[in-house]
Amino acid sequence: MFLGMSAIRAFIAIELPDEIHRKLEQVSNDLQGQLADMPVRWVRADSIHLTLKFLGDVSETNVEMVTEILAAEAAGRGPFEISLGSMGVFPNVKRPRVIWVGVEAPDDLAVLQRRIESQLTRLGYAPDRRPFSPHLTLGRVSRNAAPHQIRALSEGLQKQKLGFLGAARVTEVHLFRSDLKPSGAVYTKLFSAVLAGE
Ligand code: 2AM
Repeated sequence: MFLGMSAIRAFIAIELPDEIHRKLEQVSNDLQGQLADMPVRWVRADSIHLTLKFLGDVSETNVEMVTEILAAEAAGRGPFEISLGSMGVFPNVKRPRVIWVGVEAPDDLAVLQRRIESQLTRLGYAPDRRPFSPHLTLGRVSRNAAPHQIRALSEGLQKQKLGFLGAARVTEVHLFRSDLKPSGAVYTKLFSAVLAGE
C-alpha cells in the first residue's frame, strides 16, 4: 500500500519507426486473417514496442527514481541498430501464449537491459525469472484456444516464413505507463532517455 499515493503500471521499452509499424500491421493482419476464429488478443500494430523491463506497479516517488536510473544508464551508451524478422511463439508451438516477431541486436541491447534491470532490482523490482529474450509481441493467445486452432497457428507460422522485416536505429529508451482498458492496454510515454554516448 502506498497510503493514498497513487501507483501506475509501468514498463521500459524501445519504440519502433513508423515504417516498421506499417510492416508489422501487414504481418499481423495476414495472421489474423488465417486465424480468424482463434482467441488471441492482438496488439494494435502502432503500439507494438520492444520491452526491456516490465515494472508493474510503481509509486509516484519511485517514478522519479526510475527516470533517474534510465537517464544515468542511457547517458554513457551510444545508439545501435536492431534487425527485425522471423516469427514464433512462446513458450512453444504446442502451448502458444505469445505470438512474436524476433529481434536481433548487438550486445549493446542485452548489456543495456541487464544494467537497467540490475539498477531497478536495487530499487526493489524483481528481476525477470526468464532470461531476456528480445521480441515484439503481436498477440497473446487465450488459454481457451482449441487444439485445431493451435495447429492452425503452427501451420500458419510455417507457411509465413517471415524473413527480414526491417532494421531500426535505437537512440532512446522510454518509460511507459500502461492503462488497462476493456478495449486493450493504452500506453503513454512518461519519460525518454537518450543514448548519448559513443
Ligand atoms: P510482452 O510483449 O512480452 O508481453 C507492457 O505490458 C509490456 O510489458 C509488454 O510488452 C509485455 O511484454 C511486458 N510484460 C512483461 N511482463 C509482464 C506482465 N507480467 N504483465 C504485463 N506485461 C508484461
